[in-house]
Amino acid sequence: MNWKNRRYTNDMSLSNKGDTVELSGWIDTIRDHGQLLFAHLRDVSGVVQIVFDPQVNASCYAIAESLRNEFTVTLTGTVLEREGDAKNPNLPTGDIEIEVSDIVIHSTANTPPFVLTEKSILDDENMPFRVDEDLRLTYRYLDLRRPSMQHKLKMRSTIFKAIRDFFDDNGFYDIETPVLTKSTPEGARDYLVPSRVHANQFYALPQSPQLFKQLLMCSGFDKYYQIVKCFRDEDLRPNRQPEFTQLDMEASFIDESFIFALLESLMEKLFAVVGKSVQGPFPHITYHEAMDRYGSDRPDLRFGMEMVNVTDHLTATGYKIFNTIANANGLIKGIKVDHHADLMSKSFLQEELAKKVVPSFGGKGMSWMKVSDGKLVSNIVQFFSDAEQAALIDSFKAVDGDVLLLVADTNHHLVNDVLGRLRLYVAEKFNLIPQACIAPCWVTHFPLFEEKEGQLMSIHHPFTAPDRDITGMTDHAELLTVNSRGYDLVINGEEVGGGSIRIHDSETQKTVFECLGLTSEEIEEKFGWFVQALQYGTPPHGGLALGLDRLTGLLLDTDSIREVIAFPKNRTAGCPLTHAPSVVSDDQLDDLNISVNVPVSESIL
Ligand code: AMO
Repeated sequence: MNWKNRRYTNDMSLSNKGDTVELSGWIDTIRDHGQLLFAHLRDVSGVVQIVFDPQVNASCYAIAESLRNEFTVTLTGTVLEREGDAKNPNLPTGDIEIEVSDIVIHSTANTPPFVLTEKSILDDENMPFRVDEDLRLTYRYLDLRRPSMQHKLKMRSTIFKAIRDFFDDNGFYDIETPVLTKSTPEGARDYLVPSRVHANQFYALPQSPQLFKQLLMCSGFDKYYQIVKCFRDEDLRPNRQPEFTQLDMEASFIDESFIFALLESLMEKLFAVVGKSVQGPFPHITYHEAMDRYGSDRPDLRFGMEMVNVTDHLTATGYKIFNTIANANGLIKGIKVDHHADLMSKSFLQEELAKKVVPSFGGKGMSWMKVSDGKLVSNIVQFFSDAEQAALIDSFKAVDGDVLLLVADTNHHLVNDVLGRLRLYVAEKFNLIPQACIAPCWVTHFPLFEEKEGQLMSIHHPFTAPDRDITGMTDHAELLTVNSRGYDLVINGEEVGGGSIRIHDSETQKTVFECLGLTSEEIEEKFGWFVQALQYGTPPHGGLALGLDRLTGLLLDTDSIREVIAFPKNRTAGCPLTHAPSVVSDDQLDDLNISVNVPVSESIL
């Protein structure tokens, strides 16, 4: 084996006919045809058929008989054209095969726990790869040999390079920030790292480089970016990982329009990398409008089915539940499913949606009506006057064959949330989402704070600038009317990124901390160093972070972000391959002055 002579399988074509070539890789799909032995050789670039002919080289054929799937080899052979029917139009190298004249087996292999052959190219296109995910993650190094996984991670590399090139071309500096740091509040729990040198003290792994990137603006770097790992100990969801990758950026002397234009231009480039097209400027939607029309602050704009408020038409209705709710300052809203009356049976609407799906979203119930012959039909229409029925039909612009789904409650937030989820559920169930469509938007005008149990909390994070002067403001009701200068980038209903224009004066920063309930002492102890930094000439600045696992998954149409991460954690935040997290030795704990007061259980796996 001489690495200088090495060629790759996908570089081989008919133009190499007659050449002697040296290839290295894994044995795949062995077929013994009696007097001839065929196999595929797989390397990072693809596969090529190899053939062993005892008439041509008996000793080589003898070695070939011992080959098994996943053996690693280096071989020398001659490029031959395959005969007519033997050509394989599904393979880029399907016109040729390599007649092997020399082969070295570097290592043998146990039988893999699941099939890796290049046939999985076809399997993956036609049907999902049905192997238990924990088994895949336990043998991730094998799972990653599959062509579709190779494709996803190579594309991730290409996408990341495009991002780096883009920021480099736009005058941004790539600057690293610490991984062992002090905890900054971003809404999730911190992963803590005990310090051996400083007994009883802990570092926190960064939830994001938020404060450091702001300090870099104080330092005058003007434009910063970084592709960076972030760590959050939060409840797992399909699109969340305990450690994930952000594209983090910040710029000085800018306003929101700089960020919007920059990120739109980046998105145009990244979608082009995967052969898709989006075009800025992206539409803007305020937080309140998104909640009102779509029941979500990350609206999926690929389809309509907007929520309609019909409360005012039903204040005198004979349908008691609605009447009570409408007169108790409650909310009655609905969505219209076009032309689905025949596909949504009474039992589906009643037993499935109203009794199971809506309660699983936290709703108390759902009412439905179909439109037939210009009139409403359902188990409750008799309680609605003709005028009310006409008003409902008119409000939804409903026509024969449409179905109305209504949710009512005195809790406005609940109505929006439940109906927003129902909208997505129905759209997915009946394939109403145009899959090829890409619908980005900026969500803006978020409230600066939300209130939970009488306590104000930041909706983005406490470093986000308010849209007006709030110094001296203490009244919660007034503070809750203040919007922030935060913005989220949402694509196809997924929050791909978020950011804001920041507070750049120390007084406003202190006010926000006070609003969040911190005392002067706590502000000093937790953030004194940061507030101080703002007092030495801070430029106005702002930025954003993109969730790159989510974005890559979106660009590559994967079901889960785990598909685009080489070694992700599983659904219980564990690693089935390495068995992390795991117990550590008493000596290690002693070094750190830590005693564990919960009985030691084996790892969660
Ligand atoms: P934010 O918390 O919105 O903002 O995070 C930015 C983006 O990161 C992605 N993301 C995640 N991806 C996978 N797993 C997770 N657990 C996870 N959590 C977040 C999302 C999200 O939009 N410092 C601010 C940014 C700023 O203000 O500049 C921040 O981290 O796609």
